Amino acid sequence: MRTLGTSLQVPAIGFGAMVLSPGVYGDIDDSRAGTALRAALDAGATFVDTSDAYGVDGHNERLVGRAIKGRRDEVVLATKFGLAVPDGEASRAHPVGYAFGELRVNAEPRLVRRYAERSLRNLGTDVIDLYYSHYVDPGVPIEETTGAMAELVKDGLVRHLGLSNVSADELRRAYAVHPVAAVQNEWSMWRPIDPGLLRTARELGVGVVAWSPLGNGFLTGTVQGLGEGDFRHNAPRFSKENLAGNNDRYAPVRALATRLGITPAQLALAWLLHQDEHVVAIPGSRTPAHIEENVAAAGLTLHADTLARIDEALARFEVTGGTLL
Ligand SMILES: NC(=O)c1ccc[n+]([C@@H]2O[C@H](COP(=O)([O-])OP(=O)(O)OC[C@H]3O[C@@H](n4cnc5c(N)ncnc54)[C@H](OP(=O)(O)O)[C@@H]3O)[C@@H](O)[C@H]2O)c1
Repeated sequence: MRTLGTSLQVPAIGFGAMVLSPGVYGDIDDSRAGTALRAALDAGATFVDTSDAYGVDGHNERLVGRAIKGRRDEVVLATKFGLAVPDGEASRAHPVGYAFGELRVNAEPRLVRRYAERSLRNLGTDVIDLYYSHYVDPGVPIEETTGAMAELVKDGLVRHLGLSNVSADELRRAYAVHPVAAVQNEWSMWRPIDPGLLRTARELGVGVVAWSPLGNGFLTGTVQGLGEGDFRHNAPRFSKENLAGNNDRYAPVRALATRLGITPAQLALAWLLHQDEHVVAIPGSRTPAHIEENVAAAGLTLHADTLARIDEALARFEVTGGTLL
């Protein structure tokens, strides 16, 4: 277990539920998705991460809601708002490195309660343990969004506040309005976190939740090509031209995992957990055996010389294809 902020206790390896909606990693039906979610809870990955923007019309939140029915007390439930903008409301562009170029965000304070109430209905619960703004709205000062989020804590709809995809400065400005338990940013062996954000999180006592900790599957060493309907077709790191070369240059890290008798996925997760005691990873998977393998990474100890060898290998690992954010 690890602590986010002052008091939110979560397992070091949580579960990213985004993978369970169709159109992310190709097609998937609700029966397979439900099996994966139950496997995650059974394995101890009870820190479940979703968003109102995953799947169509709250599909992912509803899926999570069904899976935790009768098990709500076991789960630390995290969701996010700001990308699933209600019909008729304006939105603003947030640039991203995907081929489609931008996301649309509305995190205006007047909509925040409406977002939260919709998520509570989808999740079939009366409280969200950790509620994040998903992306910063370029048209709204973060203090204003945070102020509206703080009202949700005061009124008991939400237990802890989180911020996703923020800079160090944005974290500091939001924290001045209300304490923040966690930031959630992309962080993995092929996507370093901004050291300034990490420093600020440490200074303020804010936990760091690493999204795509397996590099959208790349760091498991098992991705040789992509199927139909896979969103990674939008990510230049996975393009036909880039994927094979990236896999070749990642070989030394895979070899290190083999020498340690663990899988590359486990090495990638254990490496993250060794960066700071307040870091938590939320890998996603539709495959119960992978979920168990990932959870087991929380029990691994990497010695200082191993960590040094990983850092040396990563310093030489040139990734082609830009980043997503
Ligand atoms: N805040 C944000 O803006 C943001 C953005 C993206 C993601 N997220 C969150 O982060 C979570 C995780 O990110 P992600 O799903 O993008 O990427 P990820 O966790 O880095 O990778 C998921 C991929 O890895 C594969 N995988 C997982 N464990 C494996 C193992 N042990 N061996 C082989 N393959 C394995 C999965 O395939 P199988 O299904 O076959 O196991 C899936 O294709 C999401 O679910 C979401 O909750 C947040």
